Amino acid sequence: MSTTTTTNSTTNANTTISTNTNLAVLVSGRGSNLQSMIDYIENGNIENANIGVAISDVADAYALKRAKKHGIDAVFIDPTAFGNKIEYEHELIKILDSYDTDLIILAGYMRIVGKNVISAYKNRILNIHPTLLPSFAGLHSHKQTLDYGVKVSGCTVHFVDEGMDTGPIILQSCVPVLENDTEDTLSERILEQEHKIYPQAVKLFIEGKLKVEGRIVRVSK
Ligand code: GAR
Repeated sequence: MSTTTTTNSTTNANTTISTNTNLAVLVSGRGSNLQSMIDYIENGNIENANIGVAISDVADAYALKRAKKHGIDAVFIDPTAFGNKIEYEHELIKILDSYDTDLIILAGYMRIVGKNVISAYKNRILNIHPTLLPSFAGLHSHKQTLDYGVKVSGCTVHFVDEGMDTGPIILQSCVPVLENDTEDTLSERILEQEHKIYPQAVKLFIEGKLKVEGRIVRVSK
């Protein structure tokens, strides 16, 4: 039984110039952060970066369509086709390795990354979360934010460790929470900031400007 579906192969690791940083983007849904990353790179803001593959754990994720539209390989890995998370992630690592992945970008990937992936790609996995971490980690973050009554929220780009949204923080951006905000209006305003700081964080990584010292990420100019 085939558990992995790949479509559209105009770019893969074999055709990539060796000085390129190969990015793999993991997604589960609409992929607006994937799109902002694609646009940022296509507009020439990061030199020598190549999104080799977008990988989804959801078959009909719109993010896969976005990838294909830009000539990026789009891969669906069906988690239900594997006996357990370790086997699923074994397949994931196999695919990531086959694209000579230098950096994994989680962009609305709604699974906790397991320890095998983390140790294979130590300090080479980034995530974005739509709150000012460590507040409101995990699911339903906008609801958590509104229910708590905070006046300021935002988004956070961080390295991924074994916890849920707990890794060292790279960049954050603040967004005011307004009196009449709903989950939709708040998430829309935060998303605008996500689309700015996530590509910036990737650029900093690629330019070698991030140094992780324990929990602290030093960002050089
Ligand atoms: C984004 O808001 C992202 O911050 C969030 O999912 C959304 C994905 O949107 N991620 C998490 O909550 C991860 N804990 P997108 O598919 O349009 O990029």
